[in-house]
Amino acid sequence: MTDSSFIAFISDPHLSADRPFFQFNWEILLDELSQRQPDLVLVGGDLALDGANNPSDLRFARRQLDRLPCQWLAVPGNHDIGDIAKSAVPETAVSEERRNRYLEAIGWDFWSFDVGEWRIIGLNSMILTSGFAAEAEQEKFLADAIAEAGSRRIALLSHMAVCDVALSEFDKTGWFMPAESRAMLSTYLLGGKVELVLSGDMHQSRDRLIDGVRHVWAPSTAFVTDMMEEWRPKFGGRKRVGWTEVKLGKEIEVQMHEPRRMVDFDVGNWVHDGARLYYEFARSSRFAGFGAASKAITL
Ligand SMILES: [Fe+2]
Repeated sequence: MTDSSFIAFISDPHLSADRPFFQFNWEILLDELSQRQPDLVLVGGDLALDGANNPSDLRFARRQLDRLPCQWLAVPGNHDIGDIAKSAVPETAVSEERRNRYLEAIGWDFWSFDVGEWRIIGLNSMILTSGFAAEAEQEKFLADAIAEAGSRRIALLSHMAVCDVALSEFDKTGWFMPAESRAMLSTYLLGGKVELVLSGDMHQSRDRLIDGVRHVWAPSTAFVTDMMEEWRPKFGGRKRVGWTEVKLGKEIEVQMHEPRRMVDFDVGNWVHDGARLYYEFARSSRFAGFGAASKAITL
């Protein structure tokens, strides 16, 4: 083991075999990472295009993750198991059934992994405030994993970001963790127990020190939304596809990578209206014959 561990932090690949809109960028990413040879890949959720409704998307995402050039660990996002209960309509809300399908296809949704002198703890942010038994189990797991870390330094991985500018802020956008969950985490974030929080979900990259803790947002490897920043909340990040190099050693080194071969697909028009078009294209049968149709075209 060298002085620091090289982690490729990726997020939001939104993979699907039936509707492989973003497979091109995934293939480029695989090529980039096979050249860079990270020690570990962390995946910040939204593995699937619509895994919450289409388990085959999750199974396909699993097969794609297994193509990564090293060990990987993932946490689920709203497009994998449904949206956080408070902000979702029943059709898109997280459920135990959806969570179970994720566990079957991908693996554990909260976990702890030691690398070098660091302990990385993955959290399922979609079950926060759900009231599921798993929510309480996760809270206890987190407390134990931190208490038993000894001298190890701690980083958290979550799909949802904790906050924008301060733990004490009032979030009126709905993009951040619920206040009660943030209060639970604040015990560790303000107590100096956690030094780094990694998250996805925003489809933009950002690296910010908040109340003494470093919060790093991974961009999506698949697409951006509203790159022109005409209507979506901005939060001060950078809207480009890519991945994030994180070196964990004595220092925390973070470097964003935006490979020029990857395409900045902007699907802002799909999600402007409550993601109606996103879901229409993700669920519609009109692309069921996508492969057959493309074979019928002779060039
Ligand atoms: Fe996403």
